[in-house]
Amino acid sequence: MFNFRLLLLLQILTIVKSQLLTPNVRTLHSSILVDKKLYIFSGFKDFVPNVTIESTYNLNPNDRFFYLDVSKPFDTSTLPWTAIPDNDKNLPLNFFTSIISGGVTASYGGANNDTIYFINNEKDKTLPPVLTFNTKDNSWNSYSQQIISGERPIGRNQMRPITDYSGKIFLLAGFSFTTLQGVTRNQGGMIIFDTTNLSCVLKDTAISRVEYSATLLPNGIIVYMGGKEPAGKPATDGFRVVYLYNTNDNTWKPQPTFGDSIPNGDNGISSVLGLDGFRIIVFGGDDIDNKMLYVLDTTNFNWYEPNVSGKGPTIKRFDHTANVIGRYMVIAFGSGPGLNFNYRKNGESDVLLLDIGNSSNYIWTNNFDPNAVIPPQSSSSSDSTQSDNNSNNNNNNKNTGIIVGVVVGVLGIIIITSLSIFFFIKRRKNLLHEKATSDGENVMPIPSDLELSSGRNLVK
Ligand SMILES: *[C@@H]1O[C@H](CO)[C@@H](O)[C@H](O)[C@H]1NC(C)=O
Ligand SMILES: *[C@@H]1O[C@H](CO)[C@@H](O)[C@H](O)[C@H]1NC(C)=O
Ligand SMILES: *[C@@H]1O[C@H](CO)[C@@H](O)[C@H](O)[C@H]1NC(C)=O
Ligand SMILES: *[C@@H]1O[C@H](CO)[C@@H](O)[C@H](O)[C@H]1NC(C)=O
Ligand SMILES: *[C@@H]1O[C@H](CO)[C@@H](O)[C@H](O)[C@H]1NC(C)=O
Ligand SMILES: *[C@@H]1O[C@H](CO)[C@@H](O)[C@H](O)[C@H]1NC(C)=O
Repeated sequence: MFNFRLLLLLQILTIVKSQLLTPNVRTLHSSILVDKKLYIFSGFKDFVPNVTIESTYNLNPNDRFFYLDVSKPFDTSTLPWTAIPDNDKNLPLNFFTSIISGGVTASYGGANNDTIYFINNEKDKTLPPVLTFNTKDNSWNSYSQQIISGERPIGRNQMRPITDYSGKIFLLAGFSFTTLQGVTRNQGGMIIFDTTNLSCVLKDTAISRVEYSATLLPNGIIVYMGGKEPAGKPATDGFRVVYLYNTNDNTWKPQPTFGDSIPNGDNGISSVLGLDGFRIIVFGGDDIDNKMLYVLDTTNFNWYEPNVSGKGPTIKRFDHTANVIGRYMVIAFGSGPGLNFNYRKNGESDVLLLDIGNSSNYIWTNNFDPNAVIPPQSSSSSDSTQSDNNSNNNNNNKNTGIIVGVVVGVLGIIIITSLSIFFFIKRRKNLLHEKATSDGENVMPIPSDLELSSGRNLVK
C-alpha cells in the first residue's frame, strides 16, 4: 500500500518524459526487442538521402536511437517513446557507416541476449565492422576486424538479421561485395557472425535478395520470403516459393507454397512467427494490390488470409519493422506507397498493434497490455483434416511442448515482473533517499572514449 503513491508518481513522471520524445517518421530502421524495451535505430524519410540530409538527422541523437517502453500498458495515441540516458552524449554516430552507403543492420546477441550488435557495411574501411550497445549499463563498445576472427561481418539496412538460439547472427546479403581476401561476390552470401566468440564465416546461398523478410522457426530453420533482386527487380518466384535455410547444417531448400491466396511477389514486408510457433504472419509491403495481412502455415505451406477484426490501418506500409511482444505483433514506422507518411495525417499511429492471441481471429487494437494472458494455442491448422498419422502425432507433441513452454514462460514473466517492480521500488526508495541526502549525480555509467576509439585505432 505504502508503495502506491510512489508508483503513481513514477508513472506520471514517465508519461511526462515520454511525451517529450516524438520521433520522426522513418523507413528501413532497425527495431530490436531486449527485455521490455523495443529499441529503434536509424532509418530515413527522404526519397534520396544525401550527406546534408543525413547530417541533419544526426543533429538529434535521441531521434536516431531510442526505445519504446513496453513494460507498462499504453495507448497507441500516446506512445511511451523513451530516451536512453545520456544518449545525446554517448551515441557514437561517427562510427556508423552512412545511410547513403547502405547503412547498418542491428540485432541482439551476446551471452545473455542483452547486447545489441550493430553491423556496419563494408564501404568505409576506417570504421569498425561491429559496434555494441550493452542494454544493462547503456555502454558502447567497438570491435575492429583484428578482434574478429574470420570474415568481415557486413550489415545493411535492407537486410533482415536473425539471431538464432545460440547467439549467432545470420545476415543474408543480397548484393555484391568484396571479401577480406579481395574476392568479389556478385551473388551475395550468408554472413554468420557468432556474438559469443566474435567469429564470422561466409557461406554460399540459394538466393540473393534485399528487402526480404526472415522468420526463425523453433526447429532452427529460417524462412526467407519475398524481397527483390539487388538490381531492383522483384524476385521472380515471389511468394510462390519460400526458402528454408537450416541454421543447424547450413543447407537450403526451396519450398513451394500453396493455397488460394498466394500474395503477389513483394518487398518491404515484415513477418513474425505466431504464438503457436508454426504460423508466419506477414504484414504490409510495397504492392498495393496485395492485402495487408497474410498467413503462411508452415505445417503445410498454405497461404491464407486470416480473420481480422478491429479498426486496422487504412494505409499499407512498407520498410517498417515487426516484433512479437506478449500477445501482440508490434509494427513500427514504415512508409505508405511510394514513400509517403500520410498515415499520420490519417490519424494512424507510428506503432500498430495486432493482437495475435487467437489465430482464428486477429484483432487490430490501440491498447497494449504487457500482462495480457496468452491463451492456449491450437496445435495445428490441419487437425480436422488429418487422420491419425505418425508424423502428425509428432507434430502435435512438439506443439504441446511449445504450449507448455509458453505457459511456463508467461508465468515466469509474471513472477519476474512482480519481483522486478518490488525491487525497483525498493531500490528507487533507496535512491531517492540517497538523492535527498547527497544530491547525487546521475547514476548511469558513462562509456569510456578509450573503449570506442581503441577499435578504430587498431583498424588504422
Ligand atoms: C541534398 O538534398 C537536398 C534536398 O533534395 C538538397 O537541397 C541538397 O542540396 C542536397 N545536398 C547535397 C550535398 O547534395
Ligand atoms: C537467448 O535467447 C534464446 C531464444 O531467443 C534462448 O534460447 C537462449 O537460451 C537465450 N540465452 C540466454 C543466455 O538467456
Ligand atoms: C566460435 O564458436 C562456434 C560455435 O558456436 C565455433 O563453431 C567456432 O569454431 C568458434 N570460433 C572460434 C574462432 O573460436
Ligand atoms: C478464438 O476466436 C474464435 C472466433 O472468433 C472463437 O470462436 C474462439 O472461441 C476464440 N478462442 C479463444 C480461446 O478465445
Ligand atoms: C474465421 O472465423 C470463422 C468463424 O469463427 C472460422 O470458422 C474460420 O475457421 C476462421 N478462419 C480462419 C482462417 O482462421
Ligand atoms: C501422414 O501425413 C503426411 C504429411 O501430412 C502425408 O504425406 C502422409 O501420406 C500421411 N500418411 C498416412 C499413412 O496417412
